Parts: sequence; C-alpha cells; structure tokens
Amino acid sequence: MTTNKVIKLNSANTPHLALPADSRLREADFIFGVATSAFQIEGGAETRESSIWDDFCQQPGRIKDGSDGIVACAHVERWQEDIELMQQLGVDAYRFSIAWGRVIRADGSVNPDGLGFYQALVAQLNNAGIKPFVTLYHWDLPSYLQAQGGWLNRQTAYAFASYAEVIAKALGDKVYSYTTLNEPFCSAYLGYEVGIHAPGESCQKQGRQVAHHLLLAHGLAMTHLRTHAPKAQHGIVLNCSPFHAASASPLDEKAAQQAHEYHNLWYLQPLLTGHYPKVMEQFNRANLPEIKPGDLTIIQQPLDFIGINYYTRHIVQATPSGWFEELPAPVDAELTAMGWEVYPQGLTEILMRLDQEFANLPPILITENGAAFADAVSSGTVADLDRIRYFQSHLNAVDQAARNSVKINGYFAWSLLDNFEWAEGYTKRFGLVYVDFTTQQRVLKQSALAYQQLLQSRHNQS
Ligand code: NOJ
Repeated sequence: MTTNKVIKLNSANTPHLALPADSRLREADFIFGVATSAFQIEGGAETRESSIWDDFCQQPGRIKDGSDGIVACAHVERWQEDIELMQQLGVDAYRFSIAWGRVIRADGSVNPDGLGFYQALVAQLNNAGIKPFVTLYHWDLPSYLQAQGGWLNRQTAYAFASYAEVIAKALGDKVYSYTTLNEPFCSAYLGYEVGIHAPGESCQKQGRQVAHHLLLAHGLAMTHLRTHAPKAQHGIVLNCSPFHAASASPLDEKAAQQAHEYHNLWYLQPLLTGHYPKVMEQFNRANLPEIKPGDLTIIQQPLDFIGINYYTRHIVQATPSGWFEELPAPVDAELTAMGWEVYPQGLTEILMRLDQEFANLPPILITENGAAFADAVSSGTVADLDRIRYFQSHLNAVDQAARNSVKINGYFAWSLLDNFEWAEGYTKRFGLVYVDFTTQQRVLKQSALAYQQLLQSRHNQS
C-alpha cells in the first residue's frame, strides 16, 4: 500500500491565502470545506449498480480520453486515507455525494454494504470533527431507472423521494447538511438539450421536462429529509453565473436577460416563488414541459440554504431568431485549462443580483469554486500558483458580497482530489490534492498547503 506524502506546512516557502481582518469569512460560524462527488472519485463500480454515466462512458467519442469511472480515485478503498488528508487540511466540512445505485438495487431493495459504506464514512467524518455535507444526486442516475425513461419519466421523481427517505432514515442528523440535487441545470440542459453529458440527448422539450421532474424530485424528497433529519440543514445546489451582453445593443441586452432567466432563474425562481420565470411565456406550448396541478407547491419547499457553484461568467449575444447564444471568452482573458475565463468579480455580481431579486433568498453556501490547470509533480510537489491566485481572487469576491449584505455561510473548494471530470475524463485536474491515477498516490499541491494555512490562521485577528 502506498502512503501519502505528508508535506509539513512551511510558511516560509508556501504561498498564502489571506482574508481581511474584519472578513465575514473569518467568523467562527463560517464553514470552510472541500467537495467531491461519488462518480468522480469512488470507483468500486463492481459493488454498485451501473449508472447513466457508466453507460455514457461506454459510447465511443463521448469522453475525451475514452476513460470511465470504474476505478477513478479508488476512494471506496482509500476513504480513510482521504479523511486523513482532510484532517491535515483542517477543513470544517466535507461535501460528497451518495451513489444512488450503491444503496438501492435494481429490484428496489437496499444494498446493506453500500449503505454501510456511507454510514462508516459519515461516522468517521464526525469522529474527525469534519461536518458531513451529503448530496443525494450528483448526476449518476441508476441505469435501471434510465431503462424506464429516466428523468423524462415522472415516476423517477418518486423513486428519488423513496431513496432520499432511505438515506435520511439511515443517516439522520449524523449528517450536518443534505443537498437534494447538484446543478439540475447540468442534468437537464447538458444531458438532454445539448447532449454533452449523460444520457446525451439533444431535445429542448425533453430538457425542460427533465428540469421539471428534477425540481419535483427535490420537493418530494425535502419532506422526508425534514422528517428523518430534523436538525440537519436542507437545501439544493445550483450553478449560477452572470450572463453579460456582448454589446450594449438592446437585442444583446435582451439576450443576456433571457440567458439569466433560462439558466439561473429557471431553477431558483420556482424553488423560491412557486413560478417559472417570464422567459417561459415565449415558448410555444409544444415546447413546454408538462406541469401537473400542485407541482409548483411541492417544489416551493422552505430551504435552509441555497448552494451556489461558481466557476466563470458567460457572454451572450442575440440570435436572428430572438434567442441567445454564448460567445467565447474575450481574447485577452485569463483562462483555466477548461477554457473558462477567470472572472472573480462575477461571483460578487451574481450573489448580489440574486440577493436583490429575491427578498426571501435563503443563506448562501458557496458549494463549489475552483479551477483546472495543467498540474505536474516536480521534486515531490505541485507548484500550482495559478490555482492559489484563483482561490484568493474568488475568496475576495465572496468577502465583497458579504460586505454588501449577502448572507453567506460557507465556502467549499472544488475539489479535494483530482478526479473524473465528466466529458473531459481525467484530462482536467481540479484537485487541491494531486492524484497519480496509475499508483493512486495522493500529493498535496501547494494550493492545499495554502488552504491549510488559511484555515489555521483565519480566526486570528491579525
Ligand atoms: C460542477 C460539478 O458539480 C462538478 O461535478 C464538476 O466537476 C465541476 N463543476 C467542474 O466542472
């Protein structure tokens, strides 16, 4: 067995992350964590049901490097070691997801080993003083449900609610916080409208129907979470970004507003107000999802928090048909390895905009923020100074939003480990910890050391 390379904190040669002395982010109740998801790190595919992502990976050309999630970071074997890494970092919390098909078998019965894995993980996290933040759905729908129509089938929302009930009964208040869905936009839009994520469909109407069923699933599950984990915090995680007009022309301004409503408000607005945004009115009936009476009441459940995942902003222009299309980042923009513009001020902007648009906006958690860069190990370390700069500028952006009265309670770096980056396979590294996918050895990058140093120093008023 390989052991982790434990790099001791050496403040003399480690670049730092810093927070202003009077920052909200230094307060004792502000939670700092790291995040992962099941399919991206677990591996152990032989001990769970297959998911739509296993099936998608089998289709030639879908994943950039032709890889899959069969082994990933071998987290199902190395989870204790990974908790030790988090202890070293000094995080308050760990956000991870549960693989639905590891817990619920195709015949509907509970897999005791699968459930036991998460029970042990949660127990060990609590022993280590790390708050468990569970996400119930991070895109890996069991294939047996896909065979019955997946998220296009309304019954999947009810199956999700039953699964949520099983988890909440088993883990209850041992889990600090439950998230129903991670980025339903990606499941619906990327999976069903543009087809770059599993299951790879390209049909607008289907995307909208899937989005609605996901929101319904969220609402149905919330009731079980509240019943069986009454003390835990419950919410949902959305990816929200500013959409900027490519020019000051009224048409482009309108396109930016449409993009904001279609990508951001399509999810947030029904959750908070029980209504879909106005942009829905411009679609003809044939392109609208089927919404049954009472659905929006189910969807509009009280939320303890909204999780926001933020990576970049988007620039859009009007199309001749009166819709919007996205343009590439400006030529002079700094880009991450994903080709995404580094645009920290967009995080302050979107948080403030949502705060202004919704009087009842629940407290915010930044549930993901981070960047992929072309990391390499050299002399036993990874000098990822670009990632440290990325974190620093985005922490400043969170601080700025908090100064502008947005209620923000936590920040999670994406990700603890380099992992399976969906359609990009293992070609993009987002981790604070470098993973050698041949040996599974973990190496703390300098960004991990900077995060460690930030977490150690944050409560000192210096
Ligand atoms: C958001 C997703 O939740 C996560 O799974 C993904 O790896 C990151 N974005 C980076 O693309």
